[in-house]
Formats: sequence, structure tokens, C-alpha cells
Amino acid sequence: MRNYRKINDDVFFIGCDDHTLNRFENIFPLKKGVSYNSYVVLDEKTIVFDTVDYSVGRQYKEALADILNGRTLDYLVISHMEPDHCSLINEVVALYPNLTLVGNAKTFVMMDQFFSNCEANRLVVKEGDTLSCGTHTFTFVMAPFVHWPEVMVTYDSHDKILYSADAFGTFNTLDGAMFSDETDFEKDYLDEARRYYTNIVGKYGPQVQALLKKASNLDIEMIAPLHGLVWRNNISYFIEKYQLWSTYEAESKGVLIVFGSVYGNTQAAMNQLALTLHDEGIHQVKMYDVSHTHVSYLIAEVFKYSHIVLAAPTYNGTIFPAMETLLNDMQMLNVQNKNVVIFDNGSWGPIAHKKIETKLAMMKNMNLLVPSITFKSVFNDESAINEVVQKIKETLA
Ligand SMILES: Cc1cc2nc3c(=O)[nH]c(=O)nc-3n(C[C@H](O)[C@H](O)[C@H](O)COP(=O)(O)O)c2cc1C
Ligand SMILES: [Fe+2]
Ligand SMILES: [Fe+2]
Repeated sequence: MRNYRKINDDVFFIGCDDHTLNRFENIFPLKKGVSYNSYVVLDEKTIVFDTVDYSVGRQYKEALADILNGRTLDYLVISHMEPDHCSLINEVVALYPNLTLVGNAKTFVMMDQFFSNCEANRLVVKEGDTLSCGTHTFTFVMAPFVHWPEVMVTYDSHDKILYSADAFGTFNTLDGAMFSDETDFEKDYLDEARRYYTNIVGKYGPQVQALLKKASNLDIEMIAPLHGLVWRNNISYFIEKYQLWSTYEAESKGVLIVFGSVYGNTQAAMNQLALTLHDEGIHQVKMYDVSHTHVSYLIAEVFKYSHIVLAAPTYNGTIFPAMETLLNDMQMLNVQNKNVVIFDNGSWGPIAHKKIETKLAMMKNMNLLVPSITFKSVFNDESAINEVVQKIKETLA
């Protein structure tokens, strides 16, 4: 059974869907699984870019054997040692014992941590090194911390393909699609591509910027990532998204309201704010209950919007726990450049806002539009809402 697709005459795409995985990295809930991608080039020498996760190993090995059709495998390029792409290395080496593993010095240090007995030939490459397989010449480009420290991407000057490792990936299975232009990307994938980027690579904006700069010097006609879809049309659309995300610039001028609420009073206050925003013609408004939405979705929205309203009760003398989790993730992922409003609700002493302010002060360029608004139990201050909406209006313009 054929379970791969052809990119062109000698480049093959093995995209293995895992529909069963509930949480990527055992953290991020998946609504619709994920794909692990690998690419095979049949030239005078045969070469494969990464393997896949163990969970889809049988499908992968069948596809690889089918594509090679009796030929041996000469090279396996390892973009990074993360097990979702590397757990099968030993098995592939056992199947193709003449194989040479291609990585950088750091790759092999990590390989020896994961596999104590990986007895294969090794080719150690560094920035700018090339490997010719016949008509295809591959250039290795280091991309440290575009997920892991040893990450490298590979450029094929023959097909003008950038094998981009985890960069330009997305959650969601492929369901037979290979190119982004075979899907309704904005409808079916963009939100998950943003959630993937912001949560997994979001912390490393400067490193992603460095990779984008290097990539801008290459003539790229196709981007081939390790998760999700291959890009051949409108590549600049996706690169522009990466440009915004990696510089922590908002993609959308709008207001994200995230509230926590035990008894509903903080929620009611935020509802009043949302109604007033719409009354005032501000319709880019998104609202989430912090307890009901996994923090990874909130992080993606935080990256997306220019304005963020955080509203939470004081809880045991500190920040409502789910809100604190969001703030911790925002700090960890280097969120910057936001206009922020804080609401704090406590029945005897609202003090969470002080701690939220301290957290925000540890992030770069978080601009408080008004002093934190505190209230006791039930919100009843229309003028405060009007002032917030006015400030949002001024800064959205
Ligand atoms: C477990 C728990 C701990 C709380 N701790 C505090 C506190 O330390 N200080 C305070 O002023 N209110 C505290 N409160 C009260 C709530 O912050 C307050 O009732 C608030 O109005 C709840 O807002 P809500 O209606 O949106 O849930 C606590 C409530 C709960 C359930
Ligand atoms: Fe990775
Ligand atoms: Fe990955």
C-alpha cells in the first residue's frame, strides 16, 4: 500500500499522521492530531531528512522501503535530536547498515545521550558545509534554538527546497494533503500553526530572526517542515507570519479579554467591557475564561492581539491560579509589546493586581493603559469601563 507522495521526480514526502495523540509534548492538547514528516531524495546517492516518531514507525519504514525500491540508504540527515523525529534512528541504521548519519558536533553529543549503541558512520557538518548526492547539492545551515540547541536546516540548491526542521510546522493531521495550497490554510491550519509556533518556538524570537535572515539570502521555492504542510505557493505569506511572531509584533489590532472568575462577578465585569467595546465600534474582541481554555490557546491569542485585558479575583492572597499559569507562560515565552489592562476583584483585600503588575514588569514593553482597576465583589464602575474603552480606542488607532 502506498503511503507517501511525490514532491517531484526524485523527491518523496513521507507525512505520517498520528490521529491518536492527545497531547503534543504531553502538554499541548491536540484537537486533530499531528503529522511527522520525512523527505527522501533519490539521486546517485540516496538521502533522507529525519525519521518520525516511534508511534508511526511501521508506516514510516514501509514507505521508506517502498520509495527506495531495493536501493540502499546512503545518508540520514538529522535536523535535531528530539525523539519525535529521531526515535527510529537505531532501527533505520539496522535496516540500512551502510548508512552515514549526518549531523553537527552537538547532534552527535546528544545522540550518544539518547542511544548508547548507535554504531553507524558519522559525517559531522558545520555552517555552510555542502554534501553532493549527484545532481543535488545540500548546504547545511545552523539554526540553534529554533527549538533545540543543535538544530540545523538544509538547503537543496537543485530543487530550491529548504528542509526547515521544526520551523514552519503546524499541529493537525494532513489527511492526504501535502502542499499548503491543497488546503484552506487560513481556515483549517493557521490557528494551529500559530499555537504551534508560539508555544514551542515562541521563546526564541531572536533565533528565529537569525534563521529568517539566513533564509533571505537563499533562493527558496519550497519549504519542507517536519510537521504539517509543505509550502510552494505564497511562501511569503507564511514567512511574514513568522516575521511578526518572532518579533513579538501583534498580527491583529484588537482586544483579547482573559478573565478568571469563581462566582461570576469578574466575568460580568468583562462582559460589560466587551459590550461597551462593541458599542464604541471596536469589534475585534475575543474573550476567554482562563479556567476553561488550555493556556496554549491563550498564548497563541496573546501573541496575536495588540491589546490584552487580564481580569482575575485575588485568591488566597495571590493571583487566581489559572491566571498565574498564563502569566508564567507569557514570561517564559518572552511575550512583549502589548497594551495591557488589569482588573482585580477581591471580597476583603484585592491584591492580585500588584503581583500581576510585578509579572508584567518582568516582560519587555508591556504598556499599562490605565492604573490597575480593583473592585470588591461586584463591579459597579461604569466610568472605569468608559476610561478603559477610551484608552483602547486611542491606542488602536
Ligand atoms: C479559595 C478562595 C480564596 C480567596 N482568597 C481571597 C483573598 O485572598 N483576598 C480577597 O480579597 N478575596 C479572596 N477571595 C474572594 C474572591 O476573590 C472574591 O469573592 C471575588 O469577588 C470573586 O470574584 P468572582 O465572582 O468573579 O469569582 C477568595 C475566594 C476563594 C474561593
Ligand atoms: Fe523539535
Ligand atoms: Fe518536531
